Amino acid sequence: LPAVTKALAQWVFSHPYNIKRPEVTKYLQPFQLSPETLQEVSARLRKDLLRGLGKHSHHKAPVKMLPTFVRATPDGTEKGDFLALDLGGTNFRVLHVRVEEEAQKVQICAIPQEMMLGTGEQLFDHIATCLGDFLESHNLKGQTLPLGFTFSFPCEQLEIDKSILIRWTKGFNCSGVEGKDVVQLLKEAIHRRGDYHIGSVAMVNDTVGTMMSCGYKDQSCEIGMIIGTGTNACYMEEIKNVKRIEGKDGRMCINTEWGGFGDDGCLDDILTEFDVEVDKTSINPGVHIFEKMISGMYLGEIVRLVLVKMTKDKLLFKGQISEALGTPGRFETKFISEIEDGLENAKKILTELGLDWDLVDASVVRLVCDTISSRSAYLCAAALATLVNRIRNNRKLGHLKTTVGVDGTVYRKHPTFSSKLQKAVRLLAPQCDITFLVSEDGSGTGAAMVTAVAYFCASILIQWMV
Ligand code: BGC
Repeated sequence: LPAVTKALAQWVFSHPYNIKRPEVTKYLQPFQLSPETLQEVSARLRKDLLRGLGKHSHHKAPVKMLPTFVRATPDGTEKGDFLALDLGGTNFRVLHVRVEEEAQKVQICAIPQEMMLGTGEQLFDHIATCLGDFLESHNLKGQTLPLGFTFSFPCEQLEIDKSILIRWTKGFNCSGVEGKDVVQLLKEAIHRRGDYHIGSVAMVNDTVGTMMSCGYKDQSCEIGMIIGTGTNACYMEEIKNVKRIEGKDGRMCINTEWGGFGDDGCLDDILTEFDVEVDKTSINPGVHIFEKMISGMYLGEIVRLVLVKMTKDKLLFKGQISEALGTPGRFETKFISEIEDGLENAKKILTELGLDWDLVDASVVRLVCDTISSRSAYLCAAALATLVNRIRNNRKLGHLKTTVGVDGTVYRKHPTFSSKLQKAVRLLAPQCDITFLVSEDGSGTGAAMVTAVAYFCASILIQWMV
């Protein structure tokens, strides 16, 4: 890095806590990635994007680079009345949307953990029940509305309404779904009930939905990024570079599935013993290694493992591990945001976890949270820098101005995550000027737009097939 950038990097990557227990640094150093390491991570991802796009290398590539058949971003004139299902984030949601009015009705349905690990038939029956209840309570049962299905797992998309699940991620592992067409499974479940009908179905990944919903507001949005329960991004690639697709002209949105980066061992040198443990005890060991260093499903558990180790080594809580701290999954990722947000929050959470803490303990815990969430932000920055640099090179531009549509609880809820990510990406992609646009989720217009996007994708595909 040049000298000025180095000074800037020192500022970006510095941490604000003054800890009076210097022994803790040795536990945290492995998480502190230098700007040079992040550049190296970015370079490795650059190679993996090419492997994923290649005709003969894609089937073995850890970063899948899945074509989505979306060939254009919205122009802001899309209209319509839709139903939408959203599976794969923090909540399962059913929505009714009128795009041009930005009006929507939303219902959130819990998916119990047994169901996430049960049979595919149970899961899709549950989804069909939630949709049926929603139609009933909103007097929509007689209508046949088109349905947008945001299904946030890696899928090989064959048509807009034919999408084969490659594998489950993020704590889902329902039997009999991998290798199957997810739209078909949904239609069969609705058919089994037989009390309502749906119109045409369009499937989208959440990254694509985010890119398109933000693209409705800002036409230069060409990247969609999620940092929530899982992490992933999509972007507009030149079709001539997507070797699995016939054709040379124009662009297509590629769902990178960057969560799988590192699945071939190429990130092993930066994994900590805690990452290895989180992977080993997950329901899908060996897969989605990058996602496991970054996303909300795993961050809390990484922090917990570090705290347990420090406590065992008598550096925290007078050496006493409470029952809660000793329980996998009990340290939630949302605690990280809360703890970093203020010392009072930290004290409250440590008390609730049954820990005998003092003030230095509380500040060490804040430093641990800061270190692990910062690593997540910087790794995302490295990956995003790879994408924007690629778009710039593709177009042979000296300077690229673009917009990234972003969603996900980690990005939205953490107090400093977004600013750290943005600063780091500016350093790692200095020739790119990036605007970040948060797609407002839940009751906001973003979720409504996901459905419009689905409709929009369908119309694009029809145009494309004709
Ligand atoms: C899935 C992606 C999804 C991401 C964010 C990952 O686990 O593989 O398809 O976009 O989570 O929800």
